[in-house]
Amino acid sequence: MSIVFDEKNAIFRINTPNTSCVMGIYAKKHLLQLYYGSRLDCADCSSLFPLDESTASAHALKRGAVDFFGTSPFVYPATGTGDYRNCAITVVDASGHRVCQLEYDRHRIYAGKPKLSGMPATFGDNCQTLEITMRDTILGLKVLLRFTVFADSDAIIRSAVAVNEGNGKLYLERMLSACLDMPNEDYELTTLHGTWARERNMVSRPITEGCFSVGSVAGKTSHENHPFLMVTSPGADQKHGNVYGINLIYSGNFLATCQRDHLNDLRLTMGIHPEGFRWVLEPGACFETPEAVQVFSDRGIGSMTRTFHDLYRGHLIRSPWLHRKRPILINNWEATYFSFDEEKLVAIALEAKKVGIELLVMDDGWFGHRDNDESSLGDWKVNPKKLPGGLESLEKRIRAEGLQLGIWFEPEMISPDSELYRSHPDWAIQVPGREINMSRHQYVLDLTRQDVREYVYESVAKVLRSADIRYVKWDMNRNLCDIGSAMLDAEHTGEFFHRYVLGVYWLQERLLAEFPELLLENCAGGGGRFDPGMLYYSPQIWTSDNMDPIQRLLIQEGTALVYPLSTMGAHVCVSPNHCNGRTAPMHTRANVALSGTFGYELDITKLSDAERAQCAEFNKKYHVYQEIYREGDYYRIASFRKNGYYDCWQVVSADRQQFLLTYVQARYESRPRMIRLQLEGLESGAIYRLVGTDKVYSGDLLMKAGYPQAPLWGDGNSVLLHFEKVSD
Ligand code: DGJ
Repeated sequence: MSIVFDEKNAIFRINTPNTSCVMGIYAKKHLLQLYYGSRLDCADCSSLFPLDESTASAHALKRGAVDFFGTSPFVYPATGTGDYRNCAITVVDASGHRVCQLEYDRHRIYAGKPKLSGMPATFGDNCQTLEITMRDTILGLKVLLRFTVFADSDAIIRSAVAVNEGNGKLYLERMLSACLDMPNEDYELTTLHGTWARERNMVSRPITEGCFSVGSVAGKTSHENHPFLMVTSPGADQKHGNVYGINLIYSGNFLATCQRDHLNDLRLTMGIHPEGFRWVLEPGACFETPEAVQVFSDRGIGSMTRTFHDLYRGHLIRSPWLHRKRPILINNWEATYFSFDEEKLVAIALEAKKVGIELLVMDDGWFGHRDNDESSLGDWKVNPKKLPGGLESLEKRIRAEGLQLGIWFEPEMISPDSELYRSHPDWAIQVPGREINMSRHQYVLDLTRQDVREYVYESVAKVLRSADIRYVKWDMNRNLCDIGSAMLDAEHTGEFFHRYVLGVYWLQERLLAEFPELLLENCAGGGGRFDPGMLYYSPQIWTSDNMDPIQRLLIQEGTALVYPLSTMGAHVCVSPNHCNGRTAPMHTRANVALSGTFGYELDITKLSDAERAQCAEFNKKYHVYQEIYREGDYYRIASFRKNGYYDCWQVVSADRQQFLLTYVQARYESRPRMIRLQLEGLESGAIYRLVGTDKVYSGDLLMKAGYPQAPLWGDGNSVLLHFEKVSD
């Protein structure tokens, strides 16, 4: 890792172990993106300036600034001076002019990295930061562009800070975290899409002229789109090709764009969505963007993936649970929905304990008078009809059965039918004079308000103080709309969405400060807020309400493209599945769930003895496998999404002595052939034994010829194979 400034040529070079990002100051003022790719070790990068006589930029410069702005690769382009592509920042001054021209002023290179206030951010000791100060002296605006690199990572962490150094107010209408210009090489773009119960499916397409964007204006990252862009060179696959990935450490509205311009150059941008965003920057005030993470790999998609996984495990997830064995949990949601009481939960715990389950999560419906989803959100007091002895009695009885207790909350919401709403109707997000639009019979609390945040925190904390609760599932089941807050005047309403997200972060930060050992799992109607921002607070996130293992292949492939397996909430459900009616063998439901944070979401009292015996076997395997999945390196071997037939992934233990191979055959094909699964991350000269057999294979053979997987009979069949190294 090193960041150097070549003073003679005015060039910055950010080196990571395998990549270089080069930026240059042209004409003492314009900060240009000169190169981002495989690591450069040459001394002089000055030839990268795109301004020799043969380039369009050089001609443009002669014609005038506007032509130059419209054709040059800016590191942080601003609206108003002739760059008509997607810009990173739009500033309006007190007289309504929308012109900003950021020019290089100075820079600092220092050890460490600054914290963001009230927002998730990467952290770690061995890192270096380049902070470039850009100024528009007419506006009185200073913008700090920050680039941090960690010694053990190929990722570059970017953020920007705007400071109003003038005397008049400024209005930020757009302030993104990152912009990345590069020449187009017939690249492809991959993004993650879906809906409830079908989150984060990978979608790829050629990059054609114009602009492709994905975003969310729903107040959370969303089920539909994801703050992630991946650009790949032609023919790139898991092991080969150039790959650029950008992800945003944020949990609210976002915009990610990929633009191919008239010169066939690409511009990628990532940041808070400008739609509905208008931040008032008073004189002396500053605004910080969330962090964006950019990764380049010249060794294919798999290497990019592992860079994200390692960065998030090493420098983002703070929970003490990150490297701990997570308890095998059983959640009562699909077992009972709202119809449960203390006796039912204790009965589940009794059977769960017998097969080795360690924690019972009491899901939605334990509070107020909530017997369906039409009431009581906000009234975080036990429903005495369901839990007559209160939480204390339930917890004692669950503990007596040998399990720990976890509990569900939806702290950001308020039901119109609740004591809270009757006392504080103004606490719901709303526009005066308009009926609030309902979703799942609930409104959203105005977390931009500090008084609301304090109340919500205390009501949740009071419950957690009342019994020994080890785990919290923090749910969020609707989008935001009808944006208005009693505390934000007309000028500040454009700050609402970001202030809401800051409110969520404030609450979770405070929760973990008081309950540092709590295992927190975020959730949003399944995986509607699965993002790196939430990972800063919770080491695991509920990936999707859909636990059908075949649908999960697609969901977990897309999720694991960026996020470590240890973050993916994954449970064994009943068959037929509650979201899509598909039947799947129990061992396949378990084999797919074992790759994530393992658990169950079914009524174990209704399983047959044989099924319960299977659960006991899965749980034994979990104890053997969990560390490999949690700490190991993930390799995507085959994709059901592409071949329509089977899926396969491999995880090599951190000490490289073992690996796990999951093969799921989604469909049985008549007269199937033997499949050769070309493995990765092994030692060529080493010999590996398939645990439980005397079959041995050389690493060389497994990686080149492949592991010979015999066809499995029936749709949805699978195997989970464990190999250990027996000789070097
Ligand atoms: C949505 C979650 O994803 C489910 O797991 C469950 O907790 C329900 N909400 C409860 O309302």
